[in-house]
Amino acid sequence: MDDYAGKFDATGQDYLRRIRAGAQRMGQLIDDLLNLSLVTRSEMTLDPVNLTALAREAIAELQPQQAGRAVQWEVSDPLTARGDTRLLQLALVNLLANALKFTGKCAHARIEFGQQAQGAELAFFVRDNGAGFDMAYADRLFGAFQRLHTPLEFPGTGIGLATVQRIIHRHGGRVWAEAQPGKGATFYFTLPAAE
Ligand SMILES: Nc1ncnc2c1ncn2[C@@H]1O[C@H](COP(=O)(O)OP(=O)(O)OP(=O)(O)O)[C@@H](O)[C@H]1O
Ligand SMILES: [Mg+2]
Repeated sequence: MDDYAGKFDATGQDYLRRIRAGAQRMGQLIDDLLNLSLVTRSEMTLDPVNLTALAREAIAELQPQQAGRAVQWEVSDPLTARGDTRLLQLALVNLLANALKFTGKCAHARIEFGQQAQGAELAFFVRDNGAGFDMAYADRLFGAFQRLHTPLEFPGTGIGLATVQRIIHRHGGRVWAEAQPGKGATFYFTLPAAE
């Protein structure tokens, strides 16, 4: 584009732009795949983890994505577990980033991180009042590059929840979702209890 754009007609320039966009997208996919494989292979150290503090840090990290929006964040305190701090931080950032993204079209976004009984066990949850999705496709969400919304509606590559699932499974926990189109989504996960 730098050296030859001027020598091509409009159609040629359009081809160049498409080739460049395709290469950039492939670069993004490769970066995402490398990060996903690191999540499976990196050493894990188990420590008591303050999930409340991790969530607050994640929310601070997401401030740039929230610019110009009024979002009501609710984080329960205390929330603790036993796990790998760095991996759990990555899982929380992905879940909270999704909640922030998929409430992007809500006038009054509300995002909650808490804990509640699910049968015999206690599950953590991230709940939002955003776009939600059809539960018929709920098992697809956790696969790499699987998305239920178009890039035009909400951008993304579809690697976030695959990352979250690998992290939770490596900890011996479970992760699942409940949602309704237009009424928001809740992502639940379990972890070994803090000592
Ligand atoms: N909070 C949510 N509300 C509604 N749909 C969601 C929510 N979180 C995830 N989804 C659906 O699950 C899909 C997969 O989520 P995932 O985080 O893996 O990908 P992404 O957010 O689209 O892209 P990436 O995380 O790689 O930037 C999303 O594209 C969306 O369709
Ligand atoms: Mg995501």
